[in-house]
Amino acid sequence: MATKRTTGREYSDRFSRRGFLTGTCLAASALRIRDASAQTPSARTSPATPTGGSPPQVVEVPAIEPGYVGPQFFDERERQALLEVWESGSPFRFWGPGRPEKVRRFEEDFAQHMGTRFALGVTSGTAALDCAVAGLGLGPGDEVIVPAYTWWSDYTCVVHAGALPVFADIDRTFNLDPQDFERKITPRTKAVIAVHLLGGPCDLNRILEIARRHKIAVLEDAAQCVGGSYHGKQLGSLGDVGIYSFQINKTITSGEGGAVVTNDPAIYERAARFHNMGSLHQLFADRIGSSSIPTFAGENFRMNEMTGAMLGAQLTKLDTIVAQLRHHAGVVYDGIKTIRGIRLRERPDPAGDIGYCVGFEMKDKAARDRCLQELRKRKVPASTLTGSVLLPIQESVMNKRARHPNWPSFQSPEGRAIQYGPDTCRQTLEIFDRFVLIRVGAKYTEKIDGYLIDAIREVHGLIA
Ligand SMILES: Cc1ncc(COP(=O)(O)O)c(C=O)c1O
Repeated sequence: MATKRTTGREYSDRFSRRGFLTGTCLAASALRIRDASAQTPSARTSPATPTGGSPPQVVEVPAIEPGYVGPQFFDERERQALLEVWESGSPFRFWGPGRPEKVRRFEEDFAQHMGTRFALGVTSGTAALDCAVAGLGLGPGDEVIVPAYTWWSDYTCVVHAGALPVFADIDRTFNLDPQDFERKITPRTKAVIAVHLLGGPCDLNRILEIARRHKIAVLEDAAQCVGGSYHGKQLGSLGDVGIYSFQINKTITSGEGGAVVTNDPAIYERAARFHNMGSLHQLFADRIGSSSIPTFAGENFRMNEMTGAMLGAQLTKLDTIVAQLRHHAGVVYDGIKTIRGIRLRERPDPAGDIGYCVGFEMKDKAARDRCLQELRKRKVPASTLTGSVLLPIQESVMNKRARHPNWPSFQSPEGRAIQYGPDTCRQTLEIFDRFVLIRVGAKYTEKIDGYLIDAIREVHGLIA
């Protein structure tokens, strides 16, 4: 059955036609808010009616709970897949009393979904980054360019390899600024980590072009953008190697989990070896065709069959989850793009954005903070940029602290000379200070989308 899709414009008109929020003094003192999520509707109301004025308008606030996306789609498929592992008695991926095949099948299906030759299931996105860095053969003496705002693991994977992290600013995409990336390249730069943060692709064409020109490898981190695309191709599949996370905050989840994808058999072999104590299981040898790399010291980052079972089931829902998120984010973006003076998050390929959030910019931090306060008063899930870390200003980063004082990353002349700290990421700090994010939920309703549009419209008008 076809569902009727309503545009943001229609929502906006419909809500304003019936006087939704309009004609109301927009400060909460005159606004009676009825919260549909509260057990007793009158439980959350505004302060008393101002004496002498007209009675405050009661606005019903829909229950807005974006929640964790993957678990909202758990059903019989995950249960059945987990039961099969339990019944087989084979929770280990390579052998056991049954015929373990969940992780193997997930890898094959995932590679097909992402459009790459190879996929490797691992224990987390962090492990996937460590494997990808091992796959690229990065090590002491190499420099790797990392966005100044991203998750810890993009920094730690470089340090764990003994290479030197060099930060580049983010831009209004919330991702690596291609210009600053190019400025940070030196003869020692061997790779760049192109992160797709907060559901949106980075400016990949420009980053790939610069990287190719300077012969730098591109590691795509699509942990926060599983299922996103860039001009029709799946994120993670466009660089030399890509990684994903399946931790609970991500698009599909097994609680913890990660994957590496690549088209390059040598990168795949090194990553597969690294994740399995340095040795190459026959399964990977068969996939690659012929082995070219001797055994080296690795880790144990093997995915287990329960994780593989969950992910196999979740993968069948990835397109639906992304379509739903995209729909609701699209409606909200459509509904707010006509607000006078609004500056939306820059999106290099809006169609590829997974719709995890909607972002817009205020003129400065004070306006941003007031905007957050007003939105939260209206029960809107608003926040600053979230889910990552301003890495260059973290104490352990500024002090270049690794697990050993003589760690190779910071013992080279460049490692000793490099300085981190706020002066190395001014643009990132400014962007961080000005942006507001609104979380989007896959299970939002038309009413919620419409409410968000009107609340943003109203608050932006109050402050901007
Ligand atoms: C951008 C990014 N990369 C990597 C990771 C690491 O993933 P995991 O938590 O599965 O180790 C995360 C986790 O949030 C992330 O946000």
